[in-house]
Amino acid sequence: MSFGRTVSPFWVKAWDERKRKSASGAESLWFAAVGRIVTDGAVNAQVCFNCDLETVQADPQPGRRFGKGEAIMGVGQKIAAENAGWTFGNNVPDTFVDHIKQSVPLYESGHDLICQLSDFFVKNDSVIYEIGTSTGELIRKMAQHNARKTGARWVGLDVEPAMIKAAENHCKDVANISIVQGDARHVEMEKADMIISYYTMQFVPPRYRQELFDKIYETLNWGGAFVMFEKVRAPDARFQDMIMQLYNDFKSRNGFSSEEIVEKSRSLKGVLEPFSTQGNLDLMARAGFKDMVSVQKYLCFEGFLAIK
Ligand SMILES: C[S@@+](CC[C@H](N)C(=O)[O-])C[C@H]1O[C@@H](n2cnc3c(N)ncnc32)[C@H](O)[C@@H]1O
Repeated sequence: MSFGRTVSPFWVKAWDERKRKSASGAESLWFAAVGRIVTDGAVNAQVCFNCDLETVQADPQPGRRFGKGEAIMGVGQKIAAENAGWTFGNNVPDTFVDHIKQSVPLYESGHDLICQLSDFFVKNDSVIYEIGTSTGELIRKMAQHNARKTGARWVGLDVEPAMIKAAENHCKDVANISIVQGDARHVEMEKADMIISYYTMQFVPPRYRQELFDKIYETLNWGGAFVMFEKVRAPDARFQDMIMQLYNDFKSRNGFSSEEIVEKSRSLKGVLEPFSTQGNLDLMARAGFKDMVSVQKYLCFEGFLAIK
């Protein structure tokens, strides 16, 4: 046994290195029966690995035992994810902003556009919610954009405790921002003039999604705005195919390896469920919205403004 060398920057602290000979006689470095995986300094898992050294990056479920040959794959920015197992927890908040900037076209332009839209809806006594605030990037930008409306109250909601911690830290110097942990479906909301969902509704399981659109409509004051950005599916298979190829090219140009692109999309199975443009308009219409318009679109990324 040899201990003490670090494989991933954070977690794998000890293992048993073994040289393995393939049928052709070539030698490759493997490791087996790893002693311990350490997360944030605490021993969380006794594991039994038998996989290629380079593919092991982290343990997203402390305490979990791994089967022979199982691996957790990197999806970029030192984030690890499993098949159908994407999470916003663990170490994701540490590099989330870099990851999303490189993954979502016009991520920052969308924020700027929402700040500009807020001029039409935010008053000095307004309450504004962002559902799925993650690290608090957007809610902070909006509060700063509207800094002279000192009576406005900005609320960033997120279901993920690790994101809440990051958002609290990011927004701690802005007095009128509160960060609230909870599922947006269950959090009690005051009447609001603006509600934003920036790439969040797509993570709400489809069976609950309409319920959340209904709640958003009910929560808004008359004349208030719901701004929603979503990954959307194309209206037919030919367009979907072309758009997904162009999106993969976009990620590749932004430095993701082919393996990272594939692993990210595997990790999002059953976790991110996009609807089409029409599907989203239908959800809004069933909630009660009659006035909806598209405000930004790039490939499969679309922003909507709906006014009550
Ligand atoms: C793609 S991120 C949002 C990015 C963020 N709006 C920004 O501008 O950087 C989606 C976020 O939604 C949160 N989320 C998912 N479902 C939620 C729910 N039901 N209620 C509240 N937050 C939720 C996730 O924890 C995650 O932080």
